[in-house]
This record gives sequence, C-alpha cells and structure tokens, in this order.
Amino acid sequence: MVVLSDVVLSVKRLQKAIGGKTIIHDMTFDVYAGEVFGFLGPNGAGKTTTIRMLVGLASTDSGQIRICGTSLTDDFSKAIAQVGCIVENPEMYKFMTGRENLESFARMSGGITAERIDEVVAFVDLSRAIDDKVKTYSLGMRQRLGIAQALLHRPRLLILDEPTNGLDPAGIRELRQFIRRLAEEEQLAVFISSHMLSEIEMMCDRVAIINQGRVISVGLVKTLMEQYADQVEWVFTPEQIKRAVELLAGLPFVSEAWPTVDERVKCRMEVERIGEANQTLVKAGISVLGIATKTVTLEDLFLTLTEGEKPHGD
Ligand SMILES: Nc1ncnc2c1ncn2[C@@H]1O[C@H](COP(=O)(O)OP(=O)(O)O)[C@@H](O)[C@H]1O
Ligand SMILES: [Mg+2]
Repeated sequence: MVVLSDVVLSVKRLQKAIGGKTIIHDMTFDVYAGEVFGFLGPNGAGKTTTIRMLVGLASTDSGQIRICGTSLTDDFSKAIAQVGCIVENPEMYKFMTGRENLESFARMSGGITAERIDEVVAFVDLSRAIDDKVKTYSLGMRQRLGIAQALLHRPRLLILDEPTNGLDPAGIRELRQFIRRLAEEEQLAVFISSHMLSEIEMMCDRVAIINQGRVISVGLVKTLMEQYADQVEWVFTPEQIKRAVELLAGLPFVSEAWPTVDERVKCRMEVERIGEANQTLVKAGISVLGIATKTVTLEDLFLTLTEGEKPHGD
C-alpha cells in the first residue's frame, strides 16, 4: 500500500540549458516510497539529462531536487546517501568475480558488512554465480549485479536509466518481478526511464510522460492506458460506406467514425467492441470485407497529448 505522503523524490521547476539551448523545461514531479515510477519519453526527450541532474552528475540551472526532504544543492552528501543509481551501463570489473566487485565498491563507500553483501546478492538472485567472474555473466546478470551494488548502502530511492536496453524477454521479465519486489517488500521508490510504453505499462504504478524536455502528463499508468485504449483506430472495409459510417457513429462505444478517401471507414473504439461493431453492420445487410487496426504508436500518443484532438483527414 503506497502512503502518498511519503515523498522520496521531489522535483520542482527543474530547468537546464546546454550550449544556450534549453534541454529541460520547468520539470515538476514527485516519487513516493513503495512505488515504481516510470519516466517515459522518446529518444532525446531529456531522460538521461534529468537523471544526471538527479544524482549530481550534471548541474541544474534552476529549480529544486529534494531527496527524502533534503535538498541536493544544500546538503549533497546527505541527499545522495539515500540514492542508488545506474546511469547507462553499470561499470564492473570483468576479470573479478561478482563478489569481488561488490567488495571493492563496499570498501569505497564504507560501513557495508559482508552480511549486507550476501543479503543484496540473495535479493537479486545471484547467490549461485556470485563467485564466478563477471565476464561469464549474461547481460541480465550484470544488470542485477549493478543493481545489487546500487542497493548496498540501503538507499530509499533507486534510479535506473533504460534498464531493459539490450535484455532479452526473459531478462526483462526477471527485472520486472524483481523491481516490483523491491518496491513492495523494501518500500523503495524506484524510478525507471524508458522509451517503450509497453515496458512502463508492465512495470510501473505511475508515469511521467516527457517530450522535448517537458513533462506532458503525470498520472497512474492505468489512467494513461485507458486514454491510450480510446486512441485505437480501426479501419473497416464495408460495402456501403455512407450507411456504415452512420451506423458506426451511432454506436455508444464508438468515439468517432469517418470515411476515408480510399473508400474505407475509420473509427475509434476499444478492441473488445470490434465484434459487436461488425455484427451491427452485418445485421443491417452490409458486408464487411475487412477490419484492420492502425497501431497507435507512442509518438501518436505524444501528439495527441501535446496537440489535443487532431482534425481527421487522410
Ligand atoms: N552534453 C550535451 N551537449 C549538447 N546537447 C546535449 C547534451 N546532452 C544531451 N543533449 C541533448 O539533450 C536532449 C536530451 O538528451 P537525453 O537526456 O540524452 O535524452 P534521452 O535520455 O531521453 O534520450 C537531446 O536533444 C540531446 O541531443
Ligand atoms: Mg537516455
């Protein structure tokens, strides 16, 4: 159960320009303990730049970053002590074992016991391979070792930049299950960036959608997906276009229906309603020669969210 008052990361009006060009515009969002928060945007949206600012790898021009109430600029070491992070690829020594890597990191940060190392290793499910050299690990295992390292000092916030890049479907599934456990059992706030809507849908509770350095929308993934489901566009190829448009437009679950120049009918409805829509036409004596879906991409969704309703015409 997420206690919404427990804000672990608070970002307010964050702004940054690089080389005179504003890359991050007025970015504001909060991340709570026990939730997996998605940071979703196409390549070049500003995800990595934002993450670099969140962990002090890049400076901010204005705005505020607070971690567990502590401002990153006022008391950097206190704030960053609550953060575990992997930006891009985790740096590991390939000719050392997983355990040696963790031990060397533990020596650098201090105050980490051998028991804590065993605990995180068990948590990321690497106990069997931990004394093997890292060069023998799969990408998924390296990823988990990186996360183990990021968790050693018991942070309240875990930040992962596109963690599924390069993972196979099995690796993605493991990562997903393990991240959910971190949030639910350890009450960590997990911040994950991605450019894939499907991943965010499966992994996250809430999401911020960003594009061109701006937050376009922040909310529950469920709410976003409902919006998204409404955006699914269907192309019917019926025999009587005009009559088919009238019938489809008259259905309560069809949000819009319009004829196209190539003698088809486009309409928007959820996938579960397709059979019903087809039956309506058939019962009215209109044969349907084909039904196809136009896949709505993340880019389309961004356009819808940024521009509102587009006029139809094609
Ligand atoms: N060091 C830099 N110098 C100039 N432009 C940069 C630099 N870092 C990032 N950018 C620009 O900032 C934008 C956001 O990049 P980035 O944060 O890497 O996006 P994402 O991680 O979402 O793909 C891009 O347009 C990129 O070209
Ligand atoms: Mg990036």
